[in-house]
Amino acid sequence: MASTTAVRSKRKARAAKPQNKSGGGFHQSWYAIARSDEVSAGSVIGRDFLEGRAIVFRGEDGRACVMNAYCRHLGADLSLGKVIGNDIQCAFHHWQYGADGACTKIPAAEKIPKAARIFKFPTAEKWGLIWAFNGSKPLFDVPEFVGYEEADLDIRTAEAFDLPVEPWVPFTNSMDFQHLRVLHGLKIECDPDAIHVGDYRIQYDVRFEDPTFGIFDQRIRVTGTNTIALAGRLSGMGILSMATGTPTPDGRTHGWSVTATPKNEGTAEERENRLAIGEAFFRRLIQEDEPIMQTIRFHDGLLIDADRALARFLQYVRRFPTASPVAQ
Ligand code: FES
Ligand SMILES: [Fe+2]
Repeated sequence: MASTTAVRSKRKARAAKPQNKSGGGFHQSWYAIARSDEVSAGSVIGRDFLEGRAIVFRGEDGRACVMNAYCRHLGADLSLGKVIGNDIQCAFHHWQYGADGACTKIPAAEKIPKAARIFKFPTAEKWGLIWAFNGSKPLFDVPEFVGYEEADLDIRTAEAFDLPVEPWVPFTNSMDFQHLRVLHGLKIECDPDAIHVGDYRIQYDVRFEDPTFGIFDQRIRVTGTNTIALAGRLSGMGILSMATGTPTPDGRTHGWSVTATPKNEGTAEERENRLAIGEAFFRRLIQEDEPIMQTIRFHDGLLIDADRALARFLQYVRRFPTASPVAQ
């Protein structure tokens, strides 16, 4: 199902620059942390994530679980441990933690201290990705395409980019209509005042005219500050693209793409063709953005009237809640 493009760069775990000067931490959002097929039942992996590191494991019951990586005892990295039933066992002294983060077993003690608990991120699985919410409770649902259910789509998930900026920076793209016109060469019709900006989501309809592919009618939803989902129709064909970015402790953003098409439209060959068009369209956008996002020192010092939609996005980002749950 998933294709892999190895774009994960070498990273050193060190403190991230705070995203928000008052609160610190990162936006309270859903972040993809691994592809579903990277974590089979009974296995565990470790990932640099937010300010630190997390483990992703899947118990015998098949449920994925994302937790802080460091054992409450002496801090060993639990990604070196073993999955036992639906628990994760630390490699160092075999303390064991359940899927809610509570310690279930200490071989050298009969009584388990109350404080023996690891922070467990709210975890979800969708679009071929395992997601963790940065906070104790999700404030909103995992990102979706407007008007489509996962079960009705053929889906292809891939690693897509790695950039030296925090996740909301590349997602300014979503409402930066000037750059869509001049950098990507798209003709766009969109009234900035018709964009619905909620507390945790932004939604709008837009028509792109692409020089290669033609007219794309898109229903766009931005969820949190780090995911954009485009539910598009190109000459009657359903082509859906999602991009999502996840922060790592070195101040970078690791990105995934999801391309999808309705299962009930056309033959298998036609669906393959639509997925290929979706991937090519998205790859071109990333390739055109990449040199800029690799070198930008983003600031919003001089916005003009043509940046009206972008200004609304930046206001949304500024008021977005942040959290640092592992540090608490
Ligand atoms: S450090 Fe994990 S059990 Fe001791
Ligand atoms: Fe772009």
